Amino acid sequence: MITIALTKGRILSETLPLLEAAGIVPECDIASSRKLIFQTNQQDVRLVVLRGSDVPTYVKRGSADLGISGKDVLMEVGGDNLYELLDLSIAKCRLMTAAIKGAKPSTGRIRVATKFTEVARRHYADQGRQVEIVKLYGAMEVAPLLDLADEIVDIVDTGNTLKANGLEPVDMIAEISTRLVVNKAAFKTKHAQLMPIVERIEAYLDASA
Ligand code: PRP
Repeated sequence: MITIALTKGRILSETLPLLEAAGIVPECDIASSRKLIFQTNQQDVRLVVLRGSDVPTYVKRGSADLGISGKDVLMEVGGDNLYELLDLSIAKCRLMTAAIKGAKPSTGRIRVATKFTEVARRHYADQGRQVEIVKLYGAMEVAPLLDLADEIVDIVDTGNTLKANGLEPVDMIAEISTRLVVNKAAFKTKHAQLMPIVERIEAYLDASA
C-alpha cells in the first residue's frame, strides 16, 4: 500500500490535478467529505488529508510514503528522514520578517511573534541578534500593533495583509512553495511503486510550465 499525505485547505484543489495526472483519483469528492482517509481508483494507493503542519511528521515517521507540504512547514519541522523530490510550484509566497511601517529597527533583544519559531530562531541567530520568541497560531500582524512584539515572521503573498495593518516587510527569509516529499526508507523499499507516480507528476509539471 502507498499512502500519500495531502494538505487540506487552499492547496488541496491544486493538488488533485497532479494526482490525476499520475493516474490517481479519489473514491469520492474529498472537498465535500468529512472523511480523512480515501481509497482511490488504484487499489494500492490511498490518500490522507491532514493539517499542513502535520504532513512532514507522518512522512518522516513512515506512516505516509509521500507527502505534499509547504516549504515553510518543512523548514520549521526539519528534513530528517525525508527527501524533497519536486517543487510543485503551488502556493508560491515568501517567508519574511515584518515590522510597523517606519519603525526604528530595535536594538538589543527583540521580541518576535510567529508560528515559525524554529525558522525565526535560526534567522535571527544567523544575524547575531538576540530574540525573545512569542509563539502565536495566526493573525501575527496584530502582535506589533498591540506591543506584543517588535517584529513578526510570517508568510507574505500579495503583501496586502501587512499593508492593511500598517506593517512593512523587512527581511526576506525564503521563497516558499509546495513540495512533494518522500519518506527516505520508503523511497528505497517501495521505489518501483513510487517512481511512476513521481515521474508522472514531474512530466505534468514540465508540460504545464
Ligand atoms: C497568511 C499569512 C498572512 C497572509 C499573507 O494567512 O499568515 O496573514 O496570508 O497574505 P497576503 O500577503 O496576500 O496578504 P492565512 O490567510 O493563510 O491565515 P493563517 O496565517 O491563519 O493560516
